[in-house]
Amino acid sequence: MLPEVTVTRYVTPLREGGSLPGLVEADDLRLYVLKFSGAGQGRKTLVAEVICGLLARRLGLRVPGLAQIRLDPVIGLGEPDPEVQGLLKSSGGLNLAMDFLSRAIGFDPLAYEVSAEEAGRVVWFDALINNVDRSWRNPNMLVHGGELCLIDHGASMIWHHNWRGAEASAAKPYDATDHALAPFGPDVAAAAAELAPRVTEELLLECAGEVPDEWLAGEPGFAGPDEVRRAYAATLLTRVQGLDQRITLGAGTEPSKSTGWRQGR
Ligand SMILES: Nc1ncnc2c1ncn2[C@@H]1O[C@H](COP(=O)(O)OP(=O)(O)OP(=O)(O)O)[C@@H](O)[C@H]1O
Ligand SMILES: [Mg+2]
Repeated sequence: MLPEVTVTRYVTPLREGGSLPGLVEADDLRLYVLKFSGAGQGRKTLVAEVICGLLARRLGLRVPGLAQIRLDPVIGLGEPDPEVQGLLKSSGGLNLAMDFLSRAIGFDPLAYEVSAEEAGRVVWFDALINNVDRSWRNPNMLVHGGELCLIDHGASMIWHHNWRGAEASAAKPYDATDHALAPFGPDVAAAAAELAPRVTEELLLECAGEVPDEWLAGEPGFAGPDEVRRAYAATLLTRVQGLDQRITLGAGTEPSKSTGWRQGR
């Protein structure tokens, strides 16, 4: 079970994030990044954060710790920003929280060297979950304690928006040309050899089992939350077969030589 905490104080919005995640304090006196259930992207964003975040962790990649967090919308009454107040009011109940990494800095390819092995593991993992949100424009990685930490998996597993086409979508290639770690010569073959055998049905069901029922309930075409969990596991299991053969890498642009790296910041 994901740990459960309750919001005691809304601190500030994290404006770098399009979904306006909030920095909050909880009843365990710790700070969390809160992803709102009432945000425009909907609850599937939270499902993706849970399944992919836990899977990443089980595969040895670093991600902030996850928790479920209860929010009383009353917390938002004194919030002057109408956008933030709207989010707080529409997100009463269960939301997703991540440990706030207070001394983390955003990943900068010019300042932080990544080995081909580590780049390979991240690119392979992103291919597995169909993550299109780790480009050099928006790397969604932090450096914390000298280590690379992955965040923001909410836009992955795009196929869960159309379950009928999920199996076909899972067989599709992954274009990693724009991936933030493409210039580090990702060794996806080594990553596949190491990680693919670890992606078992049991592991996937374990990760999906951590998603709260209420984020899976009422999914059209499914009898209940457990059937949806099995569909996530089955689709990811299809995706993992021969995945490294379906990853397209670019020419391996050197970050220091590219003109694009400083754009869009
Ligand atoms: N666990 C964390 N610890 C510290 N800072 C964080 C953490 N999670 C997110 N942030 C900061 O908040 C920003 C927004 O977070 P995140 O990318 O998850 O939000 P988002 O709304 O999904 O973003 P996007 O615009 O990429 O869709 C990050 O770029 C980072 O600066
Ligand atoms: Mg982001």
